[in-house]
Amino acid sequence: MKDVVSLIRTKRDGKKLDPDEIRYLINGIADQTIPDYQAAAFLMATYLKGMDQAEARALTEAMMHSGDILDLSGIDGFTCDKHSTGGVGDKITMIIAPMAAALGIKVPMYSGRGLGHTGGTIDKLDSVPGFQSTLENERFMENLQTIGIANSMQTDRIAPADKILYALRDVTATVDSIPLITGSIMSKKLACGAGGLVLDVKFGKGAFMQTQEAAKELADWLIQMAPIRNIPVSALIDRMDQPLGYMVGNALEMKESIQVLQGADIEDLVEVSVAIVREMLILAGNSDNAEARALATLKDGSALTMFRRWMRSCGGDDRVVDEPDRFPASALRETVCAEANGYVQCIDAMEIGLASVYLGAGRLTKTDTLDLGTGIELHVKQGDPVETGQPLATIHYSQTRKPLTEIRRQIVDAISLESEPKARESRIVQVIRGN
Ligand code: URA
Repeated sequence: MKDVVSLIRTKRDGKKLDPDEIRYLINGIADQTIPDYQAAAFLMATYLKGMDQAEARALTEAMMHSGDILDLSGIDGFTCDKHSTGGVGDKITMIIAPMAAALGIKVPMYSGRGLGHTGGTIDKLDSVPGFQSTLENERFMENLQTIGIANSMQTDRIAPADKILYALRDVTATVDSIPLITGSIMSKKLACGAGGLVLDVKFGKGAFMQTQEAAKELADWLIQMAPIRNIPVSALIDRMDQPLGYMVGNALEMKESIQVLQGADIEDLVEVSVAIVREMLILAGNSDNAEARALATLKDGSALTMFRRWMRSCGGDDRVVDEPDRFPASALRETVCAEANGYVQCIDAMEIGLASVYLGAGRLTKTDTLDLGTGIELHVKQGDPVETGQPLATIHYSQTRKPLTEIRRQIVDAISLESEPKARESRIVQVIRGN
């Protein structure tokens, strides 16, 4: 038996823990023989003194082994997962899963609900009438094999150590530590058993990482964990200064995803989706014309066909594709207009995300219930010219969690206007490919 106090002291003094010591700590935290106060002290010591990549790898492995490790070896073809570090208006999963499936890639994904300013894939899917977001293992495998898409709510059996650690990090100000984020993300992703992984690491106002350099550093660490299961990994580094697409809110984002699958040219959504599917094809060893083939699935209807199948396979009503009024909708709408002439410089993703939470589209605490039809529909993007009185956004709401006048102000202030035009920037600034 090791002495937990001396392991905490080792890290507190900035020394290295060996893999056995890290495994001992993680096992004890997972089976709760190490009390929360010692686990919290270990987290704070790690936050302050850091870990090197060898320690982060031991941490990731130990966390991965704290629960089930899925075996997808019975699935025919290449399986590839995607992970986004989270953003506002990020509906990319709903677009890329059908695109990849249309190209023969099998997409297994375990997703979560949203908390704070970022939305969650499961909440968005919940807005499709009838859709079941939790699949039993057998059904998950069957959908993956036959349709090529299986998405389910993350279960407590995948990396359970992360659930305990994340809850402690949340209340001890130790969330934003690169080794701890690396262990948290990669233990879950590697436990899910996919044959390849594309990471979408975001930076900017609405993201975990504020700068491109920090996002690149996180991406490098995440990629370094891939040898644990010997899978190929690519990472995109992309901007999250303004929301992705125009819609923020659960049903609104589902409707916008369908528009992209129907061929709508919503520039940033298409850019990021095509890049992710291109990377999946490259990881599959099928890189010829990867980008053009990915884009073609949006134009020839093949991704839309996969989306319909995916919805039906989970009990969802696929008539939403042709009849968007079947989605839940808010009772009330209000337009927010420009107060000056100018060009849109930036749309602060954090502020828009928070405003949508106050409309009921997201959660302030884990127990909040959502109003799936609410959210914000933006009418402008960075670079657009606007005139005084021109609609900037429509608020979709029923009951709000703070006065509507304050939410209106928050949205107007989030959309900054300047007199000089601003060229649109592409979202993706870098692609990093593992070995
Ligand atoms: N997402 C996770 O799953 N874990 C983190 O630590 C941060 C983002």
